[in-house]
Amino acid sequence: MTTSKRIGRAEACANIALAKYWGKSDLGDNLTAVPSLSLSLDALRTRTEVVFDEHLEHDLVSMGGQELTGRPLERVSAHLDRMRERAGFKLRARVKSENNFPTAAGLASSASGFAALATAAAQAAGLSLSKGELSSFARKSSASAGRSLFEGFAILDAETDHSQALAPRDHWDVAMVVAVITAGPKPIGSTGGMEHTKRTCPYYPAWEQVARSVFDQVKSGVERRDFTQVAEAMEHSTRLMHATMISSLPPVLYLKGPTVELMHEIHRRRALGEPVAYTMDAGPNVKVLTTAPHVDATVAFLQATPGVQRVIVCRPGPGASTLSAAGPLLEAARDDDLAMPAFSLPNTAARGMGS
Ligand code: PMV
Repeated sequence: MTTSKRIGRAEACANIALAKYWGKSDLGDNLTAVPSLSLSLDALRTRTEVVFDEHLEHDLVSMGGQELTGRPLERVSAHLDRMRERAGFKLRARVKSENNFPTAAGLASSASGFAALATAAAQAAGLSLSKGELSSFARKSSASAGRSLFEGFAILDAETDHSQALAPRDHWDVAMVVAVITAGPKPIGSTGGMEHTKRTCPYYPAWEQVARSVFDQVKSGVERRDFTQVAEAMEHSTRLMHATMISSLPPVLYLKGPTVELMHEIHRRRALGEPVAYTMDAGPNVKVLTTAPHVDATVAFLQATPGVQRVIVCRPGPGASTLSAAGPLLEAARDDDLAMPAFSLPNTAARGMGS
């Protein structure tokens, strides 16, 4: 391997599942028990640089300027080990990763993070892998990350190694408006939460059975751009998933008071004809699906809702892309030539004041 091939850089967007997965397959290998369908979110991005360096004895990983240790570092090293095995070398790496959104806010940072890491590490290792292969690498670290390789709408089928594209980002002019209710870390991570649910929730087998038909409804609704069908099926998928969490012993309860108030309010508004629908992942934040003409009204109502700290508008995003090796990481152009808004760090002003 030549020196020039040891650096890789990439950008990937977070994604939100419109049809959820919750639970791993008994087959192992981090395969999911049920199919899922996601939308890439253009406003939530991760940029990552990987440098394989013969002088390093261990992997060094920083996220948002903080050096990782313990379990988060082990997850990244395990990911790099799989890439090293494929490339046939043992060089350790220096990894630098930045999110343009608060990492602890429960906004799917592992999805964008591992999709960007897989893409950057493969480039640094001199491997030329298809999106499907990169998706498989990302999925082994975080199942939802497998979907972040693809633009627009993507599918990760049950017990399937890699995700696939369903429809490009211009297929449907919708937006996902994120209402941040708490920016704190989750009480229990998604992997631990789903293992516990599978073990202790009496309804879990029913969830596995019904998830396929809810997924089919979301999929055909997206294909036909049928807002009402997607709204009803997406909300049903969300409630089914959270019902298994809540009925675990002890419960895994991510929803907060403002989350539930918003569920009521969104139902009320949709009954009056507004195109709005909710979904929540393993956290209390509410993501509101709406159509392009209704974005401003949705932002206004969410901003006026008690308990909502911040609102972020996301449009259907691109897939992962490598970045130019020239200049600072955060200013590097995407190799797919896609024009994206500037990548600015969250709380830049506060950082500047602190330094
Ligand atoms: O794959 P993970 O560990 O990021 O878990 C994702 C779980 C949900 O976000 C709740 C559902 C999903 O399909 O993304």
